[in-house]
Amino acid sequence: MEENDFKQEFLEIFYDNIERDGSDKLLEWLERSDFFTAPASTNRHSSFKGGLCMHSVFVYKRFVKLLENEYGKNWDKTLSKESAAIIALLHDVCKVDCYQESFKNVKDDDGVWQKVPCYKFDEALPYGHGEKSVYILSSFMKLTREEAMAINWHMGNADCRVKGGYWGLSAVFYAHPVALLFHIADMEATYLDENS
Ligand SMILES: [Fe+2]
Ligand SMILES: [Fe+2]
Repeated sequence: MEENDFKQEFLEIFYDNIERDGSDKLLEWLERSDFFTAPASTNRHSSFKGGLCMHSVFVYKRFVKLLENEYGKNWDKTLSKESAAIIALLHDVCKVDCYQESFKNVKDDDGVWQKVPCYKFDEALPYGHGEKSVYILSSFMKLTREEAMAINWHMGNADCRVKGGYWGLSAVFYAHPVALLFHIADMEATYLDENS
């Protein structure tokens, strides 16, 4: 699939499911930003142009599968389709405008140094990760408690706050199982769908 195909798919999921007040302005901001061209990481998963949008689409599909598996065909009685789309498509808006195109020196097979393109992480708004996405999204539209929880804690045990000693994550997942399913969806997309 081409980079633009994922943008097309992202927009279809967005328009089909999200009608929240402010979501139109949010989409305008995404279009003005590098969201649709940014990579998903510097050198881990989907570190290429359009990787962030692709990752968001993959996470959405994994999330819907997990919701269906857990709650059945009528999973939207547990979590609305709008909430599922907001959580999955927008959980990583914290990565917008953070990746700068750059070059690094790498030795080729003959031991000769070559300049190769790469991405450098350069963050103008260091507000964290999941919490930063919640902060950005909340400036455009009101999030439900479930949406905010799932986006805020989508890194699970890899979250810097948890690594720093925060012990409340299990309470989050007990109270908001959807947040746990979403963390798993993010991992599945990263390690199963983007493992190439
Ligand atoms: Fe993330
Ligand atoms: Fe992610």
